[in-house]
Amino acid sequence: MTRVLGIETSCDETAAAVVEDGERLLSNVIASQVNLHARYGGVVPEVAARKHLESIIPVIETALEQAGCTWHEIAAIAATQGPGLPGSLLVGFNTAKAIAYARDLPLIPLNHLEGHVYANWLLEARDGGPAPVFPAVSLIVSGGHTDLMVMYDHGVYERLGRTRDDAAGEAFDKVARLLGLGFPGGPLIERAAREATSRKLELPRAWLHGTYDFSFSGLKTAVLRLVREHAGSYSVAEIAAAFQDSIIDVLVTKTIEAAVQVNARMILLSGGVAANRALKAAMEERSPVPVRVPPPHLCTDNGAMIAAAGYFHYGTGLQDMLAADVVPSLRLE
Ligand code: KG4
Ligand code: ZN
Repeated sequence: MTRVLGIETSCDETAAAVVEDGERLLSNVIASQVNLHARYGGVVPEVAARKHLESIIPVIETALEQAGCTWHEIAAIAATQGPGLPGSLLVGFNTAKAIAYARDLPLIPLNHLEGHVYANWLLEARDGGPAPVFPAVSLIVSGGHTDLMVMYDHGVYERLGRTRDDAAGEAFDKVARLLGLGFPGGPLIERAAREATSRKLELPRAWLHGTYDFSFSGLKTAVLRLVREHAGSYSVAEIAAAFQDSIIDVLVTKTIEAAVQVNARMILLSGGVAANRALKAAMEERSPVPVRVPPPHLCTDNGAMIAAAGYFHYGTGLQDMLAADVVPSLRLE
């Protein structure tokens, strides 16, 4: 029985969780800053870093308390090293490093995107089903990333495609702002789209044929033009639905093409946009192989995914813990 404490502060959630054997969630504490940033219409890095500093110790203490465990039962600390906002990353990572050093625990530096993928190993994401199997095609869709990867084994990734401009979540956020819906945009667009009574409006899809890359900025511009030139012809709900349909169609089509091409045995969805139930439904409907999607609260940033991923790196050893540092532009290859 191995319990890993996961710490995540790459953006605007201060999060810590205890996970047993990479799959059993014992606690999952998230101090969200969303209300703090909503008035600015986006995350303000300096404000985020200061708030992390205030929250990090209480969040970690609460995670241990809710897990009903003491430091003696923690085998390792996993913390997000990157990618993310430098000031935010520094708070969680340095706290993890200090505690690990003081308590003589292994420190496991983690890629935030790998964390998202590993949310699929938590029992909550499996609904009684088996753990994910390889090769798997992994679509990571978050506020900063749209990455289509093949996962051949634990920690072995090959990138097939990525976005050439806006990330999927970024597109949701920008379009929500254009439609006057607020921040963060994903859940608000999803809710608005559900209210659409007509599906007559169709927005463009950037297929970028022959590649597994994505592009969403044209779609955003199409919405902008629609709002400016045809205001009144369509309801916000109709535009939200057409936008969401377009983005989902491209994400699903490319992910399934990739799964067929590499003979994937499973599709793993993750990242904040995977919280979108319409995306989940479309992927499940069209996929020839089983689709895994964590429940919404494990799609958006959390510590459990970091602890789950940390378990699979447990024992790999970090040569020089004190020299470890954050890497704001860390990539997953
Ligand atoms: O993974 P995440 O919590 O943070 C990053 O690593 O970026 O993703 C946040 C993104 C935001 O852009 C947010 O609008 C989007 O995920 N998101 C959604 C939904 N919930 C969150 N997008 C579409 N539908 C949702 N239900
Ligand atoms: Zn994230």
